[in-house]
Amino acid sequence: MTEASPSRLAAVVLAAGEGTRMKSSIPKVLHPLCGRPMLLHVIGALEQLAVDRIVVVVGHGADKVVKTLHGETDVPLEFVEQRVQRGTGDAVSVALTVFADELDGDDDIVVVPGDTPLLQAETVAALVREHETSGAAATILTARLPDATGYGRIVRGKDGGVESIVDHWDATDAEREIDEVNTSIYCFRRNLITPALRRLSPENAQGEYYLTDAIAVLRQAGHKVVAMTAPETAEALGVNDRLQLAEAEAALRARINASWMRAGVTMTDPARTYIDASVTLGADVSLLPGVVLEGRTGVGAGSVIGPDTRLVDTTVGEGATVTFTVAREAEIGDGVTVGPYAHLRPGTRLARDAKVGSFVEIKASEVEEGAKVPHLAYVGDATVGPGANVGAGTITANYDGRAKHRTRIGARARIGSNTVLVAPVEVGEDAYTGAGSVVTHDVPAGALAKGVPARVEEGWAKSRSDEAAPETAEPEGGAADEEG
Ligand code: UD1
Ligand code: CA
Repeated sequence: MTEASPSRLAAVVLAAGEGTRMKSSIPKVLHPLCGRPMLLHVIGALEQLAVDRIVVVVGHGADKVVKTLHGETDVPLEFVEQRVQRGTGDAVSVALTVFADELDGDDDIVVVPGDTPLLQAETVAALVREHETSGAAATILTARLPDATGYGRIVRGKDGGVESIVDHWDATDAEREIDEVNTSIYCFRRNLITPALRRLSPENAQGEYYLTDAIAVLRQAGHKVVAMTAPETAEALGVNDRLQLAEAEAALRARINASWMRAGVTMTDPARTYIDASVTLGADVSLLPGVVLEGRTGVGAGSVIGPDTRLVDTTVGEGATVTFTVAREAEIGDGVTVGPYAHLRPGTRLARDAKVGSFVEIKASEVEEGAKVPHLAYVGDATVGPGANVGAGTITANYDGRAKHRTRIGARARIGSNTVLVAPVEVGEDAYTGAGSVVTHDVPAGALAKGVPARVEEGWAKSRSDEAAPETAEPEGGAADEEG
């Protein structure tokens, strides 16, 4: 006797709908929550399970959907196109065509909609376990929602077992009182759902082939249908419009924040802390109110970020302080201090213990170890050597109207206040520039470049008033502001 091969598991994701209620030019499932398209949250949960195949049903905006998902998953995705969106039941029928030549119909399939971004892997795993132990034909994930408007209701028979699901728009007033809703997340025996879907009819309020109707079909054929309640009601949140999008994002954000706090991150006000799903944080990071961390941003242990700071695709080392700052595609090293009110643009690299102070903009530049740009400066396409100091008001004039040029400031150089460094230009190690100097030629190591100093004319103010004492006629329309 050969051992029966363990039944395999495939997942079907429904993502063909237009999402009319979003009123958007972007397909609904691509709207981002915490920096990641809705659909990728759903697929991410499935990826954590041991599913053999993930089939995504696409239709509306199919090209955009396929392109957005490309390379974003570890498990390869299989796409099938539902050309006309005739309902969730039709969408599953289309998905099942990819299994057509597989004989082993005992396999289970998990079906999830692309618009329930809070779904968690453990919940799907529990649903599958429940399905397998009960031997049901269908197992439905349900939830109890205080406001069930728009959701399908779970109709139970006298024995308490699930009889059918009735869509909100087709429900009677009595049925609308039911607070147990369909999350649209199911596990089905493939060889039983396939024929059940053929028996659906579009005679309902929306004229669609409802997947939900397959439940009554299975029951009437004498098959077992089981319901399992979702551990968190947020998991049931389906996003159909922008209000639900905001609600789901808030729930997801709260979940992300809670998990970082459990991992050792301090948040002064979690309700005002916004962390994308893709961000990584070290232990003892402290996030002050108004912090927005986006994309591939990472913050090292012990760093303090905020208040009111936005970091996009930016890495921060350990023990750094970043205050009232906006940074994109920047690298901030260990022990660095940034802000308040700094703007770090792409290609900024601040080495260990560097300091960037208030009202400083930096772009495509390296500020080497311990170097300082403490106030009111623009540093673009430049290298600031280790230990150098860039005085207040310094500008690297990097653009001649045609091309960008580099500025090199050597180690320990001291750039005087209001220096204009006209690139391409190099200031050598230990060199100085005087305040206000316009540096158009290289300054050798250890040299001083001086600007045009202001000449002093003593007694000037008095000589001016003597030579042109104005008549004391009153200005028109009233008295002079000043006496004398
Ligand atoms: C659906 C369920 C409802 C459940 C709710 C949970 C049906 C008929 N209703 O309603 O019982 O409470 O989800 O959120 O199933 N889709 C396709 N092709 C189609 C139609 C839809 O791929 O032809 C996809 C959509 O892109 C979406 C998902 O299926 O991701 C659900 O469709 P949607 O229109 O949002 O269904 P609901 O009205 O929310
Ligand atoms: Ca929905």
